[in-house]
Amino acid sequence: HSLKQHNTFGIDAKAKYFFEFTEPEDLELFLNSNETWKEEKLIVLGEGSNILFLDDFDGLVIHPKVPGITSVYEDRQNEWYEVGSGEVWDEFVQHAVTCQLGGAENLSLIPGTVGAAPVQNIGAYGQEVCSLIEKVKGFDLEKGTMVEYAGNACGFEYRSSIFKSYLKNKFIITSVIFKLDKFPEFNLKYGQLEEKVKEKGEVNLHTVRQSVIEIRSSKLPDVKDLGNAGSFFKNPVVTAEAAEKLQLKFDGIPVYPGAEGKMKLAAGWLIEQAGWKGKREGDAGVHDQQALVLVNHGNASGRDIYNFSEKIKQSVFEKFGVELDREVNCI
Ligand code: EPU
Repeated sequence: HSLKQHNTFGIDAKAKYFFEFTEPEDLELFLNSNETWKEEKLIVLGEGSNILFLDDFDGLVIHPKVPGITSVYEDRQNEWYEVGSGEVWDEFVQHAVTCQLGGAENLSLIPGTVGAAPVQNIGAYGQEVCSLIEKVKGFDLEKGTMVEYAGNACGFEYRSSIFKSYLKNKFIITSVIFKLDKFPEFNLKYGQLEEKVKEKGEVNLHTVRQSVIEIRSSKLPDVKDLGNAGSFFKNPVVTAEAAEKLQLKFDGIPVYPGAEGKMKLAAGWLIEQAGWKGKREGDAGVHDQQALVLVNHGNASGRDIYNFSEKIKQSVFEKFGVELDREVNCI
């Protein structure tokens, strides 16, 4: 089964087996029907917007297509939605904004499915999806049954969760319950967001969503035109001392406060300063508007992009002594 249509880098990898489902019960029946699935390597693939295939996949690809954006409960302050893991994330954000419910608007236009959102705790413009997640439901492969995790049991961190660490490929998310706000508080602190929103006059869910869409579209290439998987690396987290030393040595280096007294650096800035922005080797390249995004100009293989990313990593390390970690999953 070709995976070319199932990864936004547009890599032409193949999977030995491919299974898609719309009902959680069908997944349960399928996986419990035959012991041999337990022996196969397995990955869960949503829209494939955060993955780089280095080779064909010699195992089972599970593609959740569970539909549904359903209001399940409300009180005076909040409304809870259960959303199928196969829904497109941005369609849920659009739905929330149309219903005048706040919380997801800064996360507009992030590619991928709802099921993928908790895995890497998607975030943008000062907001992270973990702050909205009440519950994650899915199928536990080791137990062979459906299991639910409360939001505070998901181990959410910057671009990480238990679904990305010890439950990786052992748990298949089927739906997520989100808690949205009837009286939204806006978070416009990040970058040019506030400025953009003010240009539109009123601050409301629609103008915030529209502003985020405009900023993202101006920096991040559309996967329909140019294969990519958003940020290829994470923003490195370093100690406060290390950040201070870098600031003394490199004028203008952006440094942001991170969790637990640590500091976050801007990987895009480091890559640009190391001279990689807009560079290209064969069909593997660095985007010319946002250096944190690697792109496939056409026929790059997964290996081409991976090897190119290794060169960038090494060059950033030589110049700044900072180790970049990939954000994209390499399979
Ligand atoms: N910068 C440069 N050159 C570049 C890119 C960035 O100098 O080529 C500088 C910017 O000027 C700014 C700083 O680096 O001072 C940060 O840049 P930006 O605001 O564009 O965001 P980012 O840190 O590069 C992160 C997320 C994005 C998210 C944006 C906005 C990560 C790994 N990336 O990028 O998430 O959209 O913030 O909140 O945390 C993704 O995860 O796929 C993703 C796109």
